Amino acid sequence: MAEIRIDTDLCKKDGFCSVACVQGIFRQNEKGTVPEIVGPESCFLCGQCVAICPHDAVVHGDFPDGSVGDVKPEHESTYEQVLQLMRSRRSKRAFRDKPVERGDIEKIIEAARFAPTGHNAQGTGYVVVQDPDRIREVGRLTAEGLRKMAKPFHSPIARIFIRRAMGARTFDMIAGFIPELEHLAKLYDEGTDVLLNGAPALLLFHADTLGLSPGTDANLGLQNAALAAETVGLGCYYTGFLVSACDRDDSIARFLSLPEHHKIYGGLALGYPKLTFKKWPERKPARVTWL
Ligand SMILES: Cc1cc2nc3c(=O)[nH]c(=O)nc-3n(C[C@H](O)[C@H](O)[C@H](O)COP(=O)(O)O)c2cc1C
Repeated sequence: MAEIRIDTDLCKKDGFCSVACVQGIFRQNEKGTVPEIVGPESCFLCGQCVAICPHDAVVHGDFPDGSVGDVKPEHESTYEQVLQLMRSRRSKRAFRDKPVERGDIEKIIEAARFAPTGHNAQGTGYVVVQDPDRIREVGRLTAEGLRKMAKPFHSPIARIFIRRAMGARTFDMIAGFIPELEHLAKLYDEGTDVLLNGAPALLLFHADTLGLSPGTDANLGLQNAALAAETVGLGCYYTGFLVSACDRDDSIARFLSLPEHHKIYGGLALGYPKLTFKKWPERKPARVTWL
């Protein structure tokens, strides 16, 4: 267990650590007193205590000197800047014939790893695939995965069992997608890659299936990466069919030598985009219920 204590010489007794700590480890029994440390073993290392104290009075073994950065006011973004980034982010599926610089991918992974994770698990792993042969094989396995998903829907007996297992509503929804899956797999077989679109790089987000919220965590990180991609001149789109194929079986995870019990929960196809969007079209209005 990491050492957690308060340097009483530096503490100004403002109690910020006690307000910020979600685990209730810093307890300020009375206003204007040094908080007491309670149950430090429940610390899940989110670092809010060291980040919130303006006096560097919180001493935490997992955050030694040099591991806590300053928030730079000059790097703060306005609402308009953030909204423009979000509105102008588009799925980009046409890529220039240029390998993606490792530094650009590292920048977007850096953005991904600062996304929130359930219980601060930070369990997401990243696989970057740039070798063209490997990307082709991932594409082939994705197409094969789509065919495997579709196959049981052609068997009247299997349909009865699947319908019973997933319920009529889900069954009807998925059954409606089967022709599309088969069409995409067929196009792929005929040489038109609408699954990975000749992307020069894949960034796949994986985690141990035993985590608390591995899929949610991976996809929150993925969206951070997708937004950051826009700012470094990369284009990307969500490789949903690849992820669906990974839901069905582990052939892509095995091909990429992921750790045992790890699953791919999210994926981006990446490259330098051929096209730049200069406009953003309206979306459906938000359906909001105010209670
Ligand atoms: C879960 C999910 C799966 C997706 N799967 C694919 C995919 O397999 N192939 C693809 O080209 N785009 C895929 N997309 C991108 C969507 O088609 C796209 O986000 C949507 O049409 C809106 O367009 P925009 O991203 O340009 O705003 C996926 C997006 C999400 C969120």
